[in-house]
Amino acid sequence: MRIDGHCKLAFVLGYPVAHSASPVMQQAALAVAGINAVYLPWAVPPDRLAGAVQGLRAMENLLGANVTVPHKEAIVPLLDSLMPEAEAVGAVNTVIPREGRLLGDNTDGAGFLAALRQELECEVRGLTVAILGAGGAARAVATALAQAGASTLILLNRTVDRATRLAELVASRHPACRVTVQLLRQERKITDIADVRLLVNTTSVGLYASDPPLFDYASLSAPILVCDLIYNPPETPLLQAARSRGCRASNGFAMLVHQGALAFERWTGTPAPIQAMREALRM
Ligand code: ATR
Repeated sequence: MRIDGHCKLAFVLGYPVAHSASPVMQQAALAVAGINAVYLPWAVPPDRLAGAVQGLRAMENLLGANVTVPHKEAIVPLLDSLMPEAEAVGAVNTVIPREGRLLGDNTDGAGFLAALRQELECEVRGLTVAILGAGGAARAVATALAQAGASTLILLNRTVDRATRLAELVASRHPACRVTVQLLRQERKITDIADVRLLVNTTSVGLYASDPPLFDYASLSAPILVCDLIYNPPETPLLQAARSRGCRASNGFAMLVHQGALAFERWTGTPAPIQAMREALRM
């Protein structure tokens, strides 16, 4: 890569940010697409986010930015406007510079749906989906599924109040989608929940091999598709159990690639080299 005076800049803002896979993936995409830009991690402590956004504003050669934990919601009031997807989830993962203004977008939901179609050949319309968790990732997933025509969402969370708040939010925006809430506990059997066809884990449980199961994994069976948003480790205990019981299952790798590809397309206006992005992550 040759850096010259025309080079554009792109960043992922997070804290910590060293674990982020985006620099490797996005830099590979820029290289394959022949775009003269560098994509860098930017470690921004929470109390300095406003200053970082001022820095983005000062950069005439800004290509764009991604936003990750813990800034996705905090950055919203610091931007000039939001695209509908970011408005719907109240969180931003992509910043797009347009004529001196900073637009906030969110490609997590669309990336999740693209990954579902690609990895699990899953058609969402009319589907009953169990979502584990009720945090920021669950909000993006639930909103995307409701928008895509899922008929029923069952939100299972250890803290029921939080799931209830999310259910009210989703139901108010998507009246055609039925949204219910249940307590998530280790003894819960998936067979106790009627008609579930897809199960999505949005919690952080599974990041560590020592994590206890979220529910009774032995109750999983073949017609149920299982999607875990965790990609590191690539095979969580939930995914292991699902596969061993004959379920089709996928990790968060494809979602990571697709949300990044959509961000790339928003910044550059050119199709993302998805295969190169995948390969960069596998190295
Ligand atoms: P994110 O933005 O990644 O979704 P978050 O907003 O902190 O992160 O949400 C984390 C989710 O994982 C929550 O649903 C949380 O459950 P609570 O609302 O009860 O806190 C869930 N979670 C985290 N650790 C968990 C555990 N050990 N058992 C069950 N759920 C857990």
